[in-house]
Amino acid sequence: MTEEDQALIDEAKRVREFAYVPYSHFAVGAALRTKDGKIFGGCNIENSSFPMTVCAERTAVYKAVSAGERDFDAIAVVADTPEPTRPCGSCRQVLAEFGVSKIIMHNVSGETEISTLKELLPGAFSKDDIIDG
Ligand code: THU
Repeated sequence: MTEEDQALIDEAKRVREFAYVPYSHFAVGAALRTKDGKIFGGCNIENSSFPMTVCAERTAVYKAVSAGERDFDAIAVVADTPEPTRPCGSCRQVLAEFGVSKIIMHNVSGETEISTLKELLPGAFSKDDIIDG
């Protein structure tokens, strides 16, 4: 693992502390890196209307996109899971939309797994599939 990837994991761990999780008590942190090295952190934010909950990964992506960023290379995800934390299906689709290719999964016990989005979401639906879009 590179120093840059370790820094991304560290940031995901840091912002995980901000997770708003009164319902699940399952805190997730994510940190997204742009191709020019900027880092955007995100945590999960739950809601009493449960489906309104936003995952940590999407918080990070939406923060970055709303700050004018479009070119990403990696995201780190951290939670207290038995195995390195995998992004949910909805987040995989959002990561595909913005071409986040490297997925760094980590758990609080310190295990890390690095994968590509193509491995996690083969055959993703994309803007190329929309003929009249
Ligand atoms: N969660 C994430 O933040 N990221 C994921 O990829 C999986 C799930 C959050 C959503 C909810 O707040 C809690 O974890 C339990 O599902």
